[in-house]
Amino acid sequence: MSSIKPLVFSGVQPTGNLHLGNYLGALRKFVALQESHECIYCVVDLHSITAQLVHEDLAEQTRSITAAFLASGIDPAKHIVFNQSRVPQHAELAWIFNCVARIGWMNRMTQFKDKAGKDRENASLGLLAYPSLMAADILVYRATHVPVGEDQKQHLELTRDIAAKFNHDFASRIETLGVGEPIQMGEETVNGFFPLTEPLIEGPATRVMSLRDGTKKMSKSDPSDLSRINLTDDGDAIAKKIRKAKTDPEPLPSEMDGLKARPEAANLVGIYAALADLTSEQVIAEFGGQQFSVFKPALADLAVEKLAPVSAEMRRISEDRAYVDQVLRDGGERAGALAEATMKQVREIVGFLAG
Ligand code: TRP
Repeated sequence: MSSIKPLVFSGVQPTGNLHLGNYLGALRKFVALQESHECIYCVVDLHSITAQLVHEDLAEQTRSITAAFLASGIDPAKHIVFNQSRVPQHAELAWIFNCVARIGWMNRMTQFKDKAGKDRENASLGLLAYPSLMAADILVYRATHVPVGEDQKQHLELTRDIAAKFNHDFASRIETLGVGEPIQMGEETVNGFFPLTEPLIEGPATRVMSLRDGTKKMSKSDPSDLSRINLTDDGDAIAKKIRKAKTDPEPLPSEMDGLKARPEAANLVGIYAALADLTSEQVIAEFGGQQFSVFKPALADLAVEKLAPVSAEMRRISEDRAYVDQVLRDGGERAGALAEATMKQVREIVGFLAG
C-alpha cells in the first residue's frame, strides 16, 4: 500500500453547457465523494484549446462550469475548485511528461483518433499531447482516485503508464533523494514518487443517452436541443423534453430482458433509476406493463423535483460573477501551493538547477 494519502481529482472542460448526462455521470459523483475524500475539482481550460484554439467566451464558459459545480453541491471551502490555467505547474509537469511518454502511446488514443479524424497531420500538437496534460493535472497533486466517464478510461491507463515510467526511469534519483513512497504495482511494491491512480468509472445506469435517439450518448453538441436536458433548463423545459422524448408504442416490459432491443425505453428507465437512486430492475418492478402515458409523467415529475432546484441555483450563482471569480481565485491559490510542493521535488528528481 502506498502511504500517499487518498485524494480525488477530476476535471471538466469549459466547452458547451452541461446536461443531465454530465450531472448524473460526473457531478453527482463528485458531490458524493466529498463525504469520504479530500477533493480537487478543476475546470480544465488548458484542455479546451487543444481542439479549437480561439473561443469567444472561454472565461464565461469557465464561470458557467464553476457555477454548475457549486449548484450541484460541491463545497469550495472544504474542497478545492479552480481553473487549470491559474496553476502553471500543470503545464510545467505536462512538459516533463511529454518527455516521459512515447509518441506511440499518444497515437493509440481513441479520443485522439476520433477528434483528429482523417487529417491527423493537421491536428494540433496539443491535441496529441492532451493525455500528457491530463496525467499532469492528476499527478501534480499525486491524486489517487479520479471519477471519470467510461470514455476516459484509456487516458487513466496512460496516466498510470506515465507514473510507472517516471518512477522507473528516475528510480535511483528518487531513492537517493529519499522522496519515494511505497507504490503497489501488481504483486510488487516499488519505491516511487507518483501513485498509480485508480479510475472511478460511472456505472451503466448513469450513461445517459439522447432523448431523440437511444443509441447515441446525450451530447452538448447535438443540434437538437430536445435531445438533452440542460442543467440550465427550468421545470417547464424539463417536463416538455421528457414528454417529447422518443419512445416506442409498447408498454414497459416486466423483465429487464425486455429492454434489450428498446434503447429509448431503456434510457428513460435508466434516467428514472439514477434520479430516484434505484436500480433499473426496481423501476421495472414498479412500472412494468405500464404505458409511456403513465411512465413519462412520473419521470417528468421526478426530473423536475431533482433538477429544477439545481438549475435555479445555477442561474442564481451565475448572476453573482464576483463570487464565482473569488471561488476560483481562492481555489487556485490553494491548488497552486499543493502543486508547487510536488514540483519542487519533481525539479530535484529530474535534476534541474534551481536556487
Ligand atoms: N479529459 C477529460 C474529459 O474530457 C477532462 C480532464 C482533463 C480530466 N484533465 C482531467 C478528467 C483530469 C479527470 C482528471 O472528460
